Amino acid sequence: MRRIDLIEPFRVMQLLERAKELEAEGKRIIHMEIGEPDFPTPAPVIKAAKKRLDSGENFYTPSTGAPELQQALADWYLHEYDLQIAPERILITPGTSGAFNLIYAVLLDAGESVLLPDPGYPCQRNFIRLAGGEPLNIPVGPETRYHLSSQQVAANWQAKTRAAVVINPGNPTGTLIEDAELAAIAATCAEHDGWLISDEIYHGLTYGAKPPCALESGDAEHTLVVNGFSKRWAMTGWRIGWVIVPENMIDAARRVMQNIFIAAPTLSQFSAIPALSAHREVEHMRKAYDVRRCYLLEALPRLGFDIVVEPQGAFYIYANVQKLTDDSRAFCWEMLEKAGVAMTPGEDFGAHRASEHLRFSYATSLDNLKEGIHRIGKFLATRTTGNAPLI
Ligand SMILES: Cc1ncc(COP(=O)(O)O)c(C=O)c1O
Repeated sequence: MRRIDLIEPFRVMQLLERAKELEAEGKRIIHMEIGEPDFPTPAPVIKAAKKRLDSGENFYTPSTGAPELQQALADWYLHEYDLQIAPERILITPGTSGAFNLIYAVLLDAGESVLLPDPGYPCQRNFIRLAGGEPLNIPVGPETRYHLSSQQVAANWQAKTRAAVVINPGNPTGTLIEDAELAAIAATCAEHDGWLISDEIYHGLTYGAKPPCALESGDAEHTLVVNGFSKRWAMTGWRIGWVIVPENMIDAARRVMQNIFIAAPTLSQFSAIPALSAHREVEHMRKAYDVRRCYLLEALPRLGFDIVVEPQGAFYIYANVQKLTDDSRAFCWEMLEKAGVAMTPGEDFGAHRASEHLRFSYATSLDNLKEGIHRIGKFLATRTTGNAPLI
């Protein structure tokens, strides 16, 4: 099989296309499938962008990023996590997606593997395959809060394994890994002279405990921290992220960056700097997400969705639907066609018990969520009495 044939599409895109068709027919669809903040870009970012545009200075930055943004991020790490990070170790990338493509290009030779949680963020598998590597999907469940455990990392590490991935808080589950477990995974990766790759894109969107940066416990030689502006700062379309690499990886990474994207977008890099002090705006969004989360945590179980581990972060709820169906994909399609509610089936996140689960996103207004819950309730109530379409 050719490498490109291993790259899977997002299956939910088909569902989204159908949702668009229904919308074109004039039907109102409630979107609880999309993992994108519904808030506008924070005002200080827009202001900085306008100023930068007017300055006319929108040429390439150095490949590893504008030194001004690297410095601002180093200051932010000091303030946010009490971590001293040399600015040149913070490489600025086009989204965190760019960061993952970069690090897998640097880390992996053909046939080398990376340990991933299943269920997990689906693009990871494809980033690894694109770099010629092999994703090793390890089934995870409620007992480890849907994260890899250090014991699983040790047990599944093979001669050609180079890294293990933790997404904290997780996508699709919104759950946090125990701090001690994160530290233990970092230690296990270091023992194998491999890397812990910590995806921290949902940091800041947590509703209780604040997760540590993996570099607080992991040693700098064996820990790669990836983060970006898309989620916490509601800046998906600006395509800006970063990865913190060890000193001795900077040169290799720079060579790759020079070749694959030259540099992250200059306008976005400079506009992102004031986001780092837009605490009020971020707090406003975080509180709104928490209200939505609490609403769903109360409403979904009443309808028969089981939430086995309470999500403490991101804007997702991963629900077990065994009481309602044995096929979450068919259930999502039926729900879209008959109730006008879109959700993401478990199969998008892996294979492990996928048909028993689906993901709700609450990156949509409370009013929309209430309407969604109302429709799902009505649908479930009418399901046994003839399946009359509700939309
Ligand atoms: C866990 C996780 N990592 C990375 C990304 C990619 O984000 P971006 O490339 O916009 O920074 C996403 C997007 O949904 C995500 O959920």
